[in-house]
Amino acid sequence: MIFKEKEITLKDGRKCTLRPVHPQDAAGMIEYLRIVSGETLFLLRNADEVTYTIEAEENILESKRNAPRELMMVAVVDGVIAGNCGIVGKGSQRRVQHRCGFAIALKQAYCDAGLGTAMMEYALSLAKDMGYEQIELEVVDGNARAKHLYEKMGFKETGRLLRSLKYDDGSYRDEICMVRLL
Ligand SMILES: CC(C)(COP(=O)(O)OP(=O)(O)OC[C@H]1O[C@@H](n2cnc3c(N)ncnc32)[C@H](O)[C@@H]1OP(=O)(O)O)[C@@H](O)C(=O)NCCC(=O)NCCS
Repeated sequence: MIFKEKEITLKDGRKCTLRPVHPQDAAGMIEYLRIVSGETLFLLRNADEVTYTIEAEENILESKRNAPRELMMVAVVDGVIAGNCGIVGKGSQRRVQHRCGFAIALKQAYCDAGLGTAMMEYALSLAKDMGYEQIELEVVDGNARAKHLYEKMGFKETGRLLRSLKYDDGSYRDEICMVRLL
């Protein structure tokens, strides 16, 4: 989905642009994904699992941009991708067309400056514009900052996916399921 670009100011005064992703972001997105995946245990991927070629990434970004019921938003600070968030429908069948999933990540250097809040506020309004009635996500058990943000944005805990993630050291973590009506 293509949506209107938005300028925001982070709590520390940095200027940031929230905008739809573009195929020309491919190289920046791959670099960004490698960095965030290596910075936190709270995402699905390890950094060595970011193996997209530029061409494959360009195709993904192009299709995200053109899909009327999908969203990929990037947050850009000083020309560099600081974070992204996405919305994807749960399926094309009529019984699930009202539901979408949400995911967000920021580079560590941009956390705790109000960016996650601003991106979510904008994404939730765009989810409603796309015709969704509810938005769903999973948060890794122990990710207190993300859970706080989601509760602040009106998400309610609905259950748990036991041992959802298995780390390279053999340990497991649950994921907490959350839903917000739009
Ligand atoms: C989770 C994430 C998206 C939040 O975005 P952010 O820009 O850092 O969040 P904001 O600054 O907008 O808000 C953070 C809130 O959490 C609070 N917070 C910070 N650390 C916290 C902690 N350890 N426990 C509880 N709350 C915490 C802040 O006080 C703030 O609350 P407030 O707005 O009520 O004052 C971002 O930190 C991130 O990408 N982290 C790494 C990847 C990740 O965890 N992604 C989510 C996967 S589900």
